[in-house]
Amino acid sequence: MPTYKNGQIVTDTDGNIMHCHGAGILEHDGWYYLFGEDRRDRRRVSCYRSKDLVNWEFRNICLTLDSETGRHYVRTDLRLAPRNSGPMTPEEAAAISMQPIGHRGANIERPKILYCEATGKFVMWMHFENGRDYNAARCAVAVCDTVDGDYTYLGSFNPVGNMSRDCTLYKDDDGTAYFISSARDNADMIVYRLSEDYLTVAEQVKTLWPGQFREAPVVLKENGKYYMFTSRCTGWNPNQGGYAVADAIDGRWSAIRPFGNETTFNTQPTAAVKVGETWLYIGDRWDPSDYLNSTIVYLPLKFDGESCSADWADEVTIEDGNVTASAGADIKDVRIMLPGCSEYLSGDGYNVFTKKLGYADKNLLWLVEEEEDCVLIKHKESGKYLSGDGILDNYVKGEERLLWKLEDSDEGKLFINRRTGKSLLVFGRRVVLTDKNDRHFGGFTIVKNY
Ligand code: DGJ
Repeated sequence: MPTYKNGQIVTDTDGNIMHCHGAGILEHDGWYYLFGEDRRDRRRVSCYRSKDLVNWEFRNICLTLDSETGRHYVRTDLRLAPRNSGPMTPEEAAAISMQPIGHRGANIERPKILYCEATGKFVMWMHFENGRDYNAARCAVAVCDTVDGDYTYLGSFNPVGNMSRDCTLYKDDDGTAYFISSARDNADMIVYRLSEDYLTVAEQVKTLWPGQFREAPVVLKENGKYYMFTSRCTGWNPNQGGYAVADAIDGRWSAIRPFGNETTFNTQPTAAVKVGETWLYIGDRWDPSDYLNSTIVYLPLKFDGESCSADWADEVTIEDGNVTASAGADIKDVRIMLPGCSEYLSGDGYNVFTKKLGYADKNLLWLVEEEEDCVLIKHKESGKYLSGDGILDNYVKGEERLLWKLEDSDEGKLFINRRTGKSLLVFGRRVVLTDKNDRHFGGFTIVKNY
């Protein structure tokens, strides 16, 4: 039975690792087409297709730094790469928070594709950055006669003069298409109605949740209601997802409600697809330590009235329009996330310090074990225990230095306290014990190793 294993590197039907991130899905001619980011060398947008969402066949690199360009009827910038652009230096890659894998040129994120009945063409919208920094904040458009052919690049622009970063497309039942993207340095989420040919913006119809800094939008319609999934803005690190509901895409949207857990099960929304009666949420599990280690996670969505939720699933089986999910064994390993979501507690067998998230990094894994009315926090790799001021120690029964109390803060974060009341805090990369709880430095989140 076609079974998708979440959190594992996905290979295509030729056995090659799939690089298709920030992806969008288009159903066409009985196939699911997946378009996503492939940042290696001069590639930018890859395309795979599948009948079952499990076995993916590589089709094409639909957009590269050398793609043909075409004239648009709105003023756009057609530049994709500087002349003779070679591989980026590690410094250049670091400046735009990428691995040193790409060639100098446009940084293309979150490509999404729609088929336009009016013109018979496939239209790709995406987030464009110049590849040197993150300040262009433009959308870009490309077009093709076939679904997985070589797309013609029509250039980048600021829609209605707005900044435009994380984005998605949505085609309504009557064929009206919308482009939705984060604007004003991600503070606002803007909904644009597209022109009939889907090639440009016809009007700006909505500015959603101003000042709430949302990104990674995904829209779906279920039972006559529109749902928009978004995340907070924490770079490549996962955070608490959210969703909102509306009766019309250009209508009044609800406030944002929580979706998934504190890290959306270590994902960020990128797409949604309906299989039979079941909607699948598709999220990127970005790996902040190694972009190429990023994976894709499928989670079946549950709707109850207007509320929507998802549970963790180790595996998702998709057959003949039926989706079944298995939660897997109880997950014991955890990571300990610091306030702000960008760093995690790590150890080296002697000391405890903070480190960037990396899913292959075993030093970030901990086990929380109960002892007396407290917990022990065990560094899984070394087998030693969190003790005192940023130190790992051998186990000694009843040893006060190893005993911790986890106390909830108002915002659902945990304080890691000693029985004496002293609290674990993080200053820079140092982990220290101080006298008082401080939510800015001491609000931890214990996240299962999904
Ligand atoms: C989060 C966005 O959702 C991703 O698409 C990407 O832009 C990263 N930020 C870059 O830090």
